[in-house]
Amino acid sequence: MRVQDKVIVVTGGASGIGKALCKRFAQEGARGVVVADLNEKGALAVADRIGGLGMKCDVSVEADLLHVVERTEKHYGPIDLLCSNAGIFFGDGEGGMATSLSNDRWQRMWEVNVRAHIYGARAVLPSMIERGEGYLLQTASAAGLLNQIGDAAYSTTKHAAIGFAESLAITHGDQGIKVSVLCPQGVATPMLDGWESSPQAGDGVLQPEEVAESVIRGLEAERFLILPHPQVRTYMERKVSDYDRWLGGMRRLRRKFSE
Ligand SMILES: NC(=O)c1ccc[n+]([C@@H]2O[C@H](COP(=O)([O-])OP(=O)(O)OC[C@H]3O[C@@H](n4cnc5c(N)ncnc54)[C@H](O)[C@@H]3O)[C@@H](O)[C@H]2O)c1
Repeated sequence: MRVQDKVIVVTGGASGIGKALCKRFAQEGARGVVVADLNEKGALAVADRIGGLGMKCDVSVEADLLHVVERTEKHYGPIDLLCSNAGIFFGDGEGGMATSLSNDRWQRMWEVNVRAHIYGARAVLPSMIERGEGYLLQTASAAGLLNQIGDAAYSTTKHAAIGFAESLAITHGDQGIKVSVLCPQGVATPMLDGWESSPQAGDGVLQPEEVAESVIRGLEAERFLILPHPQVRTYMERKVSDYDRWLGGMRRLRRKFSE
């Protein structure tokens, strides 16, 4: 899919990867870009800069996403591409145990990193299926294919997000619905602040604009997996070819970074 002339909604569009996507989509000639974010001021500022429409939205609240879809359709017409990109990472580690994070924080992770994708897809799918076309791009993470050393909740919720995206592709591919998951490693955004020397940043930290470039190419190729860090494919291959060996390697990496 080429984004020119398309109507696109980006959640988490006020900052980082989402902001870079909004800017790039506008440059590529999208007909309408909607910047939806919990941070209303940030969303309005990005929208103002690119001539789009900004709005406040908490992606963990289904009614908010329905409202975003309704407003977008009224303003621009049917949505061609929904970028379900907002996500959270607490970055406060595990306190030595994979179970240490509080139940409240686990719950919030599920709501924002997983359930929001379901709400977004549910809000746009009926119209897309009726039209026989539509594209869902979900920002997950390489942590959802591999693992995030030191953060069990982030790893688990990102794996779940990828599982849901696979289900969307399998269930709705024959109805003209395209699905991609964006799985970067480290990207220089506020989310990575303080984590620049973590194992996940070992292959180099990309700029959000480089990730946006990968997204444009991935959407054009209509590829399910969009991997801005190409090494991730090799790591995935190693993981599936010998899971125990891969786990051993990850334990070594964890020891190295906890020394
Ligand atoms: N930065 C990285 O290294 C990295 C790596 C892999 C994946 N990701 C993923 O990329 C996505 C974007 O992250 P980023 O790095 O641009 O982070 P960021 O913190 O710069 O931006 C995230 C945006 O999402 C918004 N947001 C958070 N919770 C929200 C909610 N409930 N409703 C609506 N908006 C909400 C924030 O206000 C913020 O504007 C996330 O899903 C993240 O998990 C980031």
